[in-house]
Amino acid sequence: MNSNTVMTASPDEPTEAWRPRYHYAPERNWMNDPNGLVWLDGEYHLFYQYNPEGDDWGHISWGHAVSTDLVSWQELPVAIPATERMMAFSGCAVVDHGNTTGFAPPGATTPPLLAFFTGFDPETKIQSQHLAYSLDRGRTFTPYAGNPILDIGSTEFRDPKVFWHAASGAWVMLVVAALEQQVWFYRSSDLIHWTRVSTFGPAGSADDNIWEVPELFELPVDDDPQNRRWVLIVSVNRGSLWGGSGVQYFTGDFDGTRFVAEPSGCSGPAIADLTLWADHGRDFYAPITFANMPDDRVVWMGWVSNWEYARELPTRPWRGQQSAPRELSLVTTSRGIRLRQRMVGEMLSLLEPEPLFSLSAQRGEDAANALSLAEITGRQLMARMIVNALCLQSPVGLEFFKDDAQSLRVGFDPASNSFFIDRRCKDALFPGQSERHDARRLSGAPELELEVWIDGSMVEVLADGGTVALTDLAYGTATAMGVGFFSRDGIEVQSLELRGVRPSLR
Ligand code: FRU
Repeated sequence: MNSNTVMTASPDEPTEAWRPRYHYAPERNWMNDPNGLVWLDGEYHLFYQYNPEGDDWGHISWGHAVSTDLVSWQELPVAIPATERMMAFSGCAVVDHGNTTGFAPPGATTPPLLAFFTGFDPETKIQSQHLAYSLDRGRTFTPYAGNPILDIGSTEFRDPKVFWHAASGAWVMLVVAALEQQVWFYRSSDLIHWTRVSTFGPAGSADDNIWEVPELFELPVDDDPQNRRWVLIVSVNRGSLWGGSGVQYFTGDFDGTRFVAEPSGCSGPAIADLTLWADHGRDFYAPITFANMPDDRVVWMGWVSNWEYARELPTRPWRGQQSAPRELSLVTTSRGIRLRQRMVGEMLSLLEPEPLFSLSAQRGEDAANALSLAEITGRQLMARMIVNALCLQSPVGLEFFKDDAQSLRVGFDPASNSFFIDRRCKDALFPGQSERHDARRLSGAPELELEVWIDGSMVEVLADGGTVALTDLAYGTATAMGVGFFSRDGIEVQSLELRGVRPSLR
């Protein structure tokens, strides 16, 4: 912002300039984690933590949106409503192809869609694992009569992730014991009765972290189907890279019972030795992958916010947005095996066919002049820039949400060998706005590639082919929409292209 913008606006006035147009945000009210991401019969489902009654966390239910292409979402009525006695916390969805549960009546043509989630009793604060099923493509769910399916009498036991482990022939469930910083592993043959088989953690970043939303999947390394790793994702609340919440991951092996992490290749104090962060911005949390994908892609989405300030964010009548769907893979880097995130190919269908601006092989000064003369403005933009990394002496990058007073800067700093988002501005709107977030470059290639997706008040940076990810919220003055280029020395811009991105929501 500029705080003036908000302060002179009526408290009821919508903040539409900051609304994402091609990322999912509900029409109104509060949203946090994505839940139950799943593909079924031609539809992708995005369920999410939702308060149908207001723009703050509370009455937590599973909101619902569907898409046929992963990028255009249609909001539907609440799928699993909170009741007086129970909120529906985070969890996952599974397609019960074999009707193992028997929830589908004989002769049914579609298998039951199962939702596993944490039931939170607001009175006792107990968190236990619940199961509900849908026979109408996720529109409505019926609670399983024998709920809860897993209850240890704990107030910090949540966020079940269930999947079929083919190699060992069993259903597996991960649940966090949040304060113990542990993931508990269970196995089942009928999806209803669960036996605890192992524990992982504490590990990685420690302090007084709370572990949340575990996720586990297998990926080939460097596209080699013979060389595979399991990736365990743990969202941590409080002790993340920049403080607040963030996403750590471990690569290793999983035999259907136990996850064993391999050394991450990071140097540093013993406790941080295993800590790898999925995203180096401040605003990417609780990501989960789509189950039952129609192809072999592993695709995830995360909540673009941070518990440190999520409830104070200045947007209305909605509060909360999801990241774009990102396809995951593993690559070998000089520092070890790392997660790579690239926008799903479907995102390209949202790009305007004609670039707003493009140039190739120019000196930095000329690129800056050309971009300034072009007077590009917009809040729904994709920029891709390649510069020669070998001759860089000082920071280079792009400016967005620019006016005479300030801008958001996204770039690369050779002094620290890091990509960065600098969202500092004159009047910080929320704690955390006055920050720059850096992510170390992993690639040593002379071609340095910066890809930036801007949407209302969100910035997603996937650099060097997705080996570096940075996601941040940024609220410039609502009317600030300029784009610029910055560099100080005689650098060479190999290419720069800016495209408008079409709205995909409403
Ligand atoms: C993560 C989380 C989960 C919990 C949910 C409640 O952001 O705290 O652990 O289930 O949000 O809304």
